[in-house]
Amino acid sequence: MKLKFTIPSMDFSAAGKASTEAKRFLSRLGLDPGLVKRIAIAMYEGEMNIAIHGGGGGAELEISPEKIELLFKDNGPGIADLELAMTEGYSTASEEVRSMGFGAGMGMPNMKRNADSMDVDSKPGAGTRVVLVFNLAKAEPS
Ligand SMILES: Nc1ncnc2c1ncn2[C@@H]1O[C@H](COP(=O)(O)OP(=O)(O)O)[C@@H](O)[C@H]1O
Ligand SMILES: [Mg+2]
Repeated sequence: MKLKFTIPSMDFSAAGKASTEAKRFLSRLGLDPGLVKRIAIAMYEGEMNIAIHGGGGGAELEISPEKIELLFKDNGPGIADLELAMTEGYSTASEEVRSMGFGAGMGMPNMKRNADSMDVDSKPGAGTRVVLVFNLAKAEPS
């Protein structure tokens, strides 16, 4: 099963809309609340990065028996230095964006911390693609 979300650029009134919808959906599926929370946090950071840095784009949430996969895609400026982008506190957000309470530089580290794996594919000028995987707990054989 796959859910798709469109994320507009710099629309702060829509901020967090995709992650809120995803959270509601996953809760209804009866997933572990702790897991739903991790996914919602990571998705919020991912969608805000697309809105603020990526010039808008899309997210996909794919649910399978073994895992939940989140894909974030944009055609924005890309990330020049990934190691720097993954560093806590590093942000290229403008003063205006910071004055609204964004741009603390914790989004990428938060995504990594909450997911079981994180893969970033980005080149300057070629956009950014982030894949997060959340493993689903296997039932113990009885
Ligand atoms: N989708 C993206 N497109 C371009 N740059 C990005 C993207 N996502 C993250 N970045 C870069 O990585 C930096 C760190 O991201 P993050 O940890 O979420 O902090 P913040 O969003 O608060 O700046 C951003 O400031 C930006 O330079
Ligand atoms: Mg961010």
